Amino acid sequence: MRHLIHYIIPLTIAITVSLILTFNNLSPKPLPPFSCSPTTPSTASLPFCDARLPVERRARDLIGRLTLDEKIAQLVNKAAAVPRLGIPYYEWWSETLHGVAMAAGVENGFSFNGTIRAATSFPQVMLTSATFDAQLWYKIAKATGKEGRAIYNAGEATGMTMWSPNINIFRDPRWGRGQETPGEDPLVAGRYAVAFVRGLQGDAFEGGRLSNDGRLLLSACCKHLTAYDLDHWKGVHRFTFNAQVTKQDMADTFQPPFKSCIREGKASGIMCAYNLVNGVPSCADRRLLTETAREEWGFDGYIVSDCDAVSLIHEKQNYTDTHEDAVAAVLKAGMDLNCGSYVSDHAKSAVEKGKLSESDIDRAVHNLFSVRMRLGLFDGSPKTQPYTNLRHNDVVCSSDHQQLALEAARDGIVLLKNSQNLLPLSTAATKTLAVIGPGADDAEALVGNYAGPPCNPVTPLQGLKRYVKKTVCHRGCEAAGCDYDGAAGVAGSADYVVLVVGLNQEHESEEVDRESLELPREQVVLVERVAAAARNPVVMVVMCGGGVDVSFARDDERIGGILWGGYPGEGGGRAVAEIIFGDHNPGGRLPTTWYPQDFTKIPMSDMRMRPDHESGYPGRTYRFYQGEKVFEFGYGLSYSNYTYKFVSVSQSKLNLKSSPPTENSKLEKKLGFVRVSEIGLDSCEKARFSAIVSVGNEGSMPGKHPVLLFFRRDRGRVDGPIKQLVGFHTVRLEGNARGDVEFDVDPCEHFASADEDGAMVIELGLHFLVVGDQEFSITINV
Ligand SMILES: *[C@@H]1O[C@H](CO)[C@@H](O)[C@H](O)[C@H]1NC(C)=O
Ligand SMILES: *[C@@H]1O[C@H](CO)[C@@H](O)[C@H](O)[C@H]1NC(C)=O
Ligand SMILES: *[C@@H]1O[C@H](CO)[C@@H](O)[C@H](O)[C@H]1NC(C)=O
Repeated sequence: MRHLIHYIIPLTIAITVSLILTFNNLSPKPLPPFSCSPTTPSTASLPFCDARLPVERRARDLIGRLTLDEKIAQLVNKAAAVPRLGIPYYEWWSETLHGVAMAAGVENGFSFNGTIRAATSFPQVMLTSATFDAQLWYKIAKATGKEGRAIYNAGEATGMTMWSPNINIFRDPRWGRGQETPGEDPLVAGRYAVAFVRGLQGDAFEGGRLSNDGRLLLSACCKHLTAYDLDHWKGVHRFTFNAQVTKQDMADTFQPPFKSCIREGKASGIMCAYNLVNGVPSCADRRLLTETAREEWGFDGYIVSDCDAVSLIHEKQNYTDTHEDAVAAVLKAGMDLNCGSYVSDHAKSAVEKGKLSESDIDRAVHNLFSVRMRLGLFDGSPKTQPYTNLRHNDVVCSSDHQQLALEAARDGIVLLKNSQNLLPLSTAATKTLAVIGPGADDAEALVGNYAGPPCNPVTPLQGLKRYVKKTVCHRGCEAAGCDYDGAAGVAGSADYVVLVVGLNQEHESEEVDRESLELPREQVVLVERVAAAARNPVVMVVMCGGGVDVSFARDDERIGGILWGGYPGEGGGRAVAEIIFGDHNPGGRLPTTWYPQDFTKIPMSDMRMRPDHESGYPGRTYRFYQGEKVFEFGYGLSYSNYTYKFVSVSQSKLNLKSSPPTENSKLEKKLGFVRVSEIGLDSCEKARFSAIVSVGNEGSMPGKHPVLLFFRRDRGRVDGPIKQLVGFHTVRLEGNARGDVEFDVDPCEHFASADEDGAMVIELGLHFLVVGDQEFSITINV
């Protein structure tokens, strides 16, 4: 979304535009950011200003007062003011991926150039996901929502519609934007989406009730619908990529997070993606936007294009013959807002040529104003609104929020290796410490992309210095080159060495996919030189979003400990240091598979999730990939060992009746499966059960531990998942203590996967619930 292209306006038009702007500037006073202010009595009495009326009614009233030109000027992210109705300019584009962010286009959203210069910077999403703690995800989003709202209240933001979260499945480890997502598992991505949207929009999280009659703290947007997970790889570019996706993968991998985001999260926004799916641009796909999102999932917010995605449809994808056809295609498909200016440039002539009707525009404008009304932007005096009392001094960079950012970093960081319990280091035995590597003291590398300026960033070096006074730092490699001898010298003179290596936004980010999964060559050399010179096995901290092939270090006994630090946000360096010196017991678990370099033999553009044994295509993610792994999904060590036991499972023989039995269901029964759509709702309800797992912390340190419950088939269809996640819960346990976690299992949801037609099916027979090395058998019949 970073690159706004095609902004070359012919000179004559530019002059006309500037004349209009000058003319508009003659209006006496600048408009307040809230419409319907008592200071404009001519509008305050109109129905659209009446906060007691339903939003639907108010939006209809407002649209009835607008001319066609005024409506068209609302269809773009820089929505024009309508001064005669007291409606100010509105910028739809803002970002809050992991804290209030500066969008890349400078004037969009939050500028951070007034009184407010920073906001709490939470870990990049991939690391937050590794906590497997939905309550924490919710708290982060709520904190972010409050900060964003307070900044708007202070007059230092231009909008309250956030284009976050990014919930595309992290299908291929090379994807530069994988860091923005919650990972490779559809259930995790869906749960993340629900927690995030509810937090950001100010809804309740547990119990599923919506607060405030649809009022929004901020508006969240599920992006990018759909099957978008390639930016720029070996000449394949997201602007023209035609993703070939099977119905099967669409149904049980790519769509579920969006379905949850909308159905349970109640997101008020959706962004459609740049790419085409099976030949159709997502923003022009009526089946996707209208039939699926609105009609099937019940979406009632606005749909925005990724930035300039509409112009691409005609200009780069050759999907339509004219500009007007492209604009008509997206508006008729159900898109409401264009990031860019293309739709406002061509909608008028599309109407004149009879390609587009005014009612299509009305629908879009209705959706847009409804969301602005739900944000309280048409309620006149801000004093009367629920969120206008949030003051930036109280929430932005508050100590609570900064503590939450630190907690997320602590809980997300994953201990990947700890030979002979090298970690935690003892301060007594560490008289001198060397901190080596390009990431050792790099505050910028902490935050990842789509970030704002952090309040109080702590680098690993700064964090570690709090534990060991005699800490020496050497960057090892800088832009200018590497000083291996210098780094080895520093390593050899210290008791212990912490190496901070990894990737940054030049290696993986928007428009930048990787070609290799290895660490940059010079860092591998640096690690090896330092490890050879060190007196003791070294600790390696890897900062990156997507997985890297660190098997060289995993298999090298001179490297005793490895931590994955993600992009840990402003508290990251402190969290790293607390873990290394044992003030925090690590509990994060990988939300993605870490593949070996060999995986890059398969094209990134091959969207298939399932393996194809004939051609040697290995499949993707823990659900389907059976090849060699560097580390697997859900992997993560701790300073404690945890043991599991199934203590009670309320049902182990399930009967999934289809009622009444149809010819189809009889046939399916013979074939050994049942379609979820054929199972009666009450049979699904009756089949729900509870599984209680007792968890033991066998170590002496207290710890917070995420428990992951999987479902595995005994023998099933060849194209089904190897296993799939049923749920996850975290448990806090003192040393040498046990506790129970309870999972609610809904077989119709948790045991189903898609068949070739994209229908969700459940296989009959023997299956297993799996937690750690424990299995519990479940039999399914009809
Ligand atoms: C901050 O940046 C915005 C957008 O560039 C600009 O309009 C505004 O005047 C700036 N404010 C200050 C105080 O510099
Ligand atoms: C669209 O048409 C142009 C001009 O004919 C051509 O260069 C380009 O490759 C086409 N793009 C696609 C995606 O087919
Ligand atoms: C966990 O168990 C393994 C295998 O028994 C053992 O090698 C390791 O030292 C234990 N770790 C801790 C932290 O107790």
